[in-house]
Amino acid sequence: MPDLDIDFVREQFPAFAEPDLAGQAFFENAGGSYACAPVIDRLTRFYRARKVQPYAAYTASAIAGAEMDEARTRLAALLGVDADEVQFGPSTSQNAYVLATAFRAALAPGDAVVVTNQDHEANSGPWRRLVEAGLDIREWRVDPGTGALDPADLAALLEDGRVRLIAFPHCSNIVGQVNDVAALTAMARDAGAVTCVDGVSYAPHGLPDVGALGADIYLFSSYKTYGPHQGVMVVRRALAERLPNQGHYFNAGVASKRLTPAGPDHAQIAASAGMADYVDALHARHFADDPAASVRASRVHDLQRAHETRLLAPLLDYLGGRNDLRLIGPAQPEGRVPTVAVALARPGGEVAAALAAHGIMAGGGHFYAVRLLEALGIDPEHGVLRLSFVHYTHEDEVARLIGALDAVL
Ligand SMILES: Cc1ncc(COP(=O)(O)O)c(C=O)c1O
Repeated sequence: MPDLDIDFVREQFPAFAEPDLAGQAFFENAGGSYACAPVIDRLTRFYRARKVQPYAAYTASAIAGAEMDEARTRLAALLGVDADEVQFGPSTSQNAYVLATAFRAALAPGDAVVVTNQDHEANSGPWRRLVEAGLDIREWRVDPGTGALDPADLAALLEDGRVRLIAFPHCSNIVGQVNDVAALTAMARDAGAVTCVDGVSYAPHGLPDVGALGADIYLFSSYKTYGPHQGVMVVRRALAERLPNQGHYFNAGVASKRLTPAGPDHAQIAASAGMADYVDALHARHFADDPAASVRASRVHDLQRAHETRLLAPLLDYLGGRNDLRLIGPAQPEGRVPTVAVALARPGGEVAAALAAHGIMAGGGHFYAVRLLEALGIDPEHGVLRLSFVHYTHEDEVARLIGALDAVL
């Protein structure tokens, strides 16, 4: 596999040439990424030339609709699913609340749902509320020392055969450790349960093959995957057809409208095709052939991950070598994403503010993973410092971060 061409990558992101951001190194990517040029260009073009009601016969409208369809079709192909299985909603949190309402009607009192205390609240709170409908909510708990989820603990929760749904993260936005989604979805299937996987913290590090992972629902937020501010939701057809319609009654037969009652932002859907443009541009830059979309996505995923893993090693070495902080999640770069949280004597937000004075954009707080921090014995109000990067990060920026940490800590 070739090395990621980091100069080419950075040329695709206008933020790196933006005077307002000059001299700043961005380490809060888990909160939201920079947008790639194709997304910005498509969004601008839509607002300038297509900002009419889509799917009518007049030209601007027909083009608007075609661009929205293109986004759905091309993203679905990269994700290894069919176009009618991809839904665009306002955010992942909103998508999860709508899904939970659908499950409330589809499940019966006494059925059980498994949630974790590793998740961001978006893939936890909506499901926990189903207790109000008489459902049995079971918590799959992290190891309080490491923050890891042990599949053996899940197996115990599945033993009585009453679990119908398991909600868990591809990886946590604090722990960073990648859960073995394919193994977990297989366990769920054997137990007669469907799965809702929060991929928000994983997808920025390489689009997954959702088909191969076996998730019935896979959620991610495109404002963290170089795109516009939306929640993207894959709901596999077999499940989508079983869930009651959450949209207008006369749209019950329209797959793209059944689970997104808020109505989509047309411009952002159209601009989402820019994420596919970007993946394809990365592929074309690094490989001579033109294989199927899922192969292109998987190669680009591996390029991204290899670059990230290489840059993560010195940061983890540095943090692991300090005795005045608690590194959360694995100390090795393999099997984790470069979202690195540390607990310190000082509140996370305070240290992040000190880093800002050194040109480091980082975050502090609980990042909506309140239950996880409590399980780890960390006061959510005190919070953690989170340092998160992606494939467009330069190794010089990591070196600069380490220098700034040395000064601030
Ligand atoms: C892991 C994870 N899941 C879910 C969400 C919620 O996503 P959204 O902001 O699209 O509702 C976030 C947002 O930060 C997140 O980090």
